[in-house]
Amino acid sequence: MAFKFSVAFLLSVCSAAICDLITDGVHMECRERYFMIAVDLSFTGKELRFEAVDRTGVYAITEQYAAKCGYTVSALPLLGHVELRASYFSCHTDNKDDMFSFNFNLIATHKGKKASYALNKTCTLSLQWSHREVTCEMNYMEVSVRSDVTCPIVPNRHNKNAVRAVRSTTSDWQVTFQRPEEQMPSMNVSQARKRGYTFDSRDGRLLFRTPYGQPDSLSTEVEDVPVEAVYATVFSRQNWVVLMVDLLAACSMYEGYFDDGGYMMWKTPEALYPSVGGTQIRIGLNGDAMEQLIAEKRGYIVEKHKGTVHIGIPYNAEGGHRKSFVIGSLYEFYAFDLSVEQISVDRDYVDTMLQFRRTLVTPLLPCTVFTRNQTVLEEQMFTIYLGDVPEDVMLVSIQLNERDFTLPFTNTSTYKVTEVLHPNGTHGYTLKVLFHDPVVKQKFFIEDAVLQFMLDINYTLAVLPGNDFYYHLASIVALFTDVSPPAFDAVCSESGIRFKLNRQPFDYLWELTIGLDVLTSDLADRRGYIFSNDSQSLQLDVPLATHGYKYQDVTLKGFSGTFEILVRVRETSEVQTSTVKTCLFNPKEFIMCSTDGMMTVVANLPPVVSGGGRTLRMSLMDNSCGPKDMNGTRALFSFPVNSCGFIFELGKDYVTYQNEIFYNKNDQNMDLVSSDATERVIVQCTYPLSSLHQLFTMYRFVSDTVGVGKIIRTVQPTAGLQRPTRKPTAALQSTPRHTQPVVFVPGVRPSARYFRVSRVHNLAGG
Ligand SMILES: *[C@@H]1O[C@H](CO)[C@@H](O)[C@H](O)[C@H]1NC(C)=O
Ligand SMILES: *[C@@H]1O[C@H](CO)[C@@H](O)[C@H](O)[C@H]1NC(C)=O
Ligand SMILES: *[C@@H]1O[C@H](CO)[C@@H](O)[C@H](O)[C@H]1NC(C)=O
Ligand SMILES: *[C@@H]1O[C@H](CO)[C@@H](O)[C@H](O)[C@H]1NC(C)=O
Ligand SMILES: *[C@@H]1O[C@H](CO)[C@@H](O)[C@H](O)[C@H]1NC(C)=O
Ligand SMILES: *[C@@H]1O[C@H](CO)[C@@H](O)[C@H](O)[C@H]1NC(C)=O
Ligand SMILES: *[C@@H]1O[C@H](CO)[C@@H](O)[C@H](O)[C@H]1NC(C)=O
Ligand SMILES: *[C@@H]1O[C@H](CO)[C@@H](O)[C@H](O)[C@H]1NC(C)=O
Repeated sequence: MAFKFSVAFLLSVCSAAICDLITDGVHMECRERYFMIAVDLSFTGKELRFEAVDRTGVYAITEQYAAKCGYTVSALPLLGHVELRASYFSCHTDNKDDMFSFNFNLIATHKGKKASYALNKTCTLSLQWSHREVTCEMNYMEVSVRSDVTCPIVPNRHNKNAVRAVRSTTSDWQVTFQRPEEQMPSMNVSQARKRGYTFDSRDGRLLFRTPYGQPDSLSTEVEDVPVEAVYATVFSRQNWVVLMVDLLAACSMYEGYFDDGGYMMWKTPEALYPSVGGTQIRIGLNGDAMEQLIAEKRGYIVEKHKGTVHIGIPYNAEGGHRKSFVIGSLYEFYAFDLSVEQISVDRDYVDTMLQFRRTLVTPLLPCTVFTRNQTVLEEQMFTIYLGDVPEDVMLVSIQLNERDFTLPFTNTSTYKVTEVLHPNGTHGYTLKVLFHDPVVKQKFFIEDAVLQFMLDINYTLAVLPGNDFYYHLASIVALFTDVSPPAFDAVCSESGIRFKLNRQPFDYLWELTIGLDVLTSDLADRRGYIFSNDSQSLQLDVPLATHGYKYQDVTLKGFSGTFEILVRVRETSEVQTSTVKTCLFNPKEFIMCSTDGMMTVVANLPPVVSGGGRTLRMSLMDNSCGPKDMNGTRALFSFPVNSCGFIFELGKDYVTYQNEIFYNKNDQNMDLVSSDATERVIVQCTYPLSSLHQLFTMYRFVSDTVGVGKIIRTVQPTAGLQRPTRKPTAALQSTPRHTQPVVFVPGVRPSARYFRVSRVHNLAGG
């Protein structure tokens, strides 16, 4: 009746989800000597209980009731599953011949709702009973003996009366428990039941079950192994026959330990029950017992030593349970549902099957997640391996120098995480971060030429399920020594200087400047340098006469030109090194206009028809200004632009100073040879007005930049200006008559006074 109600109840609540639960979350199995229900807590929630159901009613399986009635609820909530084991002789099992029917209700509180599921199954005895069956369960000991052999006083086993006698009701049986040196009074079966024992007669067998720790039980040691035993003798007087049966329940209570070699060790005395010769051992996990040889092949230890059977389960044995969890640090433990079967035969050919079912749990073992620095400096990136991450632990996020990155990472090129799986179940993660990723800290020690990259990593690992977090920290530093600033090779050419450097990885720590100006392709374009730059090398061609040269030692034979490139620490702009190159140049002709207003010219004067190769006479417009040096037709002049009879042209944003070289082969005639056939040599220096923002004086010319020089050759008398009167007296105010900005005015040498360029400009314009 009660059972039918359960089914109806189940049907009424059986939504799709709950039916899934029955198929997915619950597993039922008939084992050789018990029936098992395994429940996955992730489907049911952690709060659950069982009820046993039979024709007479519904019985809650409490701890006490389970031990008394042959049920075992083995719960390892950390592992997420609960197992119910029911002995074939458990209280509410129906049996007919070799068929055993089990009916249970599983009551779960799932997502706040209480639900009941009817679970039933019928098992067939797959392995015939031995004469004596002993089960050492976790919460009880159970002994059953075949009733027809327990009657040695009946010579003929087929004596129906005797057999019937044993099978008769147990109500008139008496029980005594035996303890050494103690005379225990006998009691009837119902009194024994009250004390927690079970005596029964089922399926042709006499059954005795006792929880551990009963007052009548005996705790002792056999071969150094703790053993608990209960000696019970049942007897019945039937007319003139006294039946007496010894029922001994004895179990190894050894708790096991985890040894250094990675084995969970357990042991039991070999001869808990009388045997002739050795016992036959089968062991396994989760009820799957294997022959000794097979077990040994799978890495188990089975050793008989000094009357004791030693069993070792390798930590990674198939069927074992492993779980990580976090208590401050990361730990793991292993749990094994060990089954041991020991078969023995005694002198009278009475065979005993002894079964142990023990859950062995290792202590908390620290998990050694580690990081390994696999960085190869040449790759320009960090490679860090996080290893020995247990299989139930996952990397969920990473903090790199205090910046959070959650998984999965986006596919950026600068950092990457790849997972590495190992056959032993652990896994690892390889993190790659480019040194140049903005997240990487770098520090440059200029004095030591050491560049340091730093990465502080905080791995967030989640233990599944439940997502307890564990943080693993690592600090990785990569050091580059001999980090030297870029160094140029410089070579002279006829027309300039070529600077070249091969790129080094850390060139970006520095910047190249010409004076104060940072070298860019833009700057190069503006100044007429030829700049090429790629990932391999950088080349800068600096043609003569471009900005940045310093000229020295100007003679008729040439001059030296010096160009300097400064290497500055980018962060501080401090000059660290420089490349200075000085080259000797000897062009046929050249003109230089210095920032301090000197015009320096080496000119090759046209060969004039000279009788007898007499040297030329020459001068500037002011004929008191002669050459500094000369050789044949070559002459060197060097004079302030605003002297020697100069004239100037004031443009909108430039000023041009002009002079002319007069020459004559005739000593006497100082006047210009202005024969039509003779070339005129005009020299000019042009300065941008913007560079003349400073005050300048007729004595102290100051320009930010050098001027652009020009040597003009012409035969046109009008191309230049007429030579002014020898002593120009025209005052400044008298000269500008032109409204056009392009005008040459005769140079003057006013009394010492300063005037602004803008005034000059106004003057010209006004
Ligand atoms: C076992 O339960 C199912 C429903 O889950 C029911 O259909 C079946 O009749 C039951 N069997 C027994 C023997 O009670
Ligand atoms: C068992 O013994 C108790 C006390 O001696 C007695 O009260 C009870 O009736 C007995 N029960 C049976 C079934 O004999
Ligand atoms: C990330 O990049 C790898 C190769 O670099 C490529 O195979 C993969 O498909 C990319 N993943 C995504 C999500 O773009
Ligand atoms: C698992 O295997 C990997 C790769 O062989 C090894 O590095 C690691 O130490 C192993 N971990 C354990 C716990 O055995
Ligand atoms: C690591 O990261 C976690 C989560 O972001 C944070 O709570 C923890 O303080 C960090 N540990 C350190 C040492 O920075
Ligand atoms: C990591 O490896 C790199 C390259 O081998 C090495 O330069 C660096 O010192 C290492 N860093 C640490 C913290 O071990
Ligand atoms: C030269 O090119 C590299 C890239 O190839 C670039 O990083 C660098 O800034 C360039 N240098 C200059 C001075 O432009
Ligand atoms: C003058 O020039 C000639 C030919 O160019 C040269 O041989 C001679 O050395 C030069 N003299 C001087 C003093 O420079």
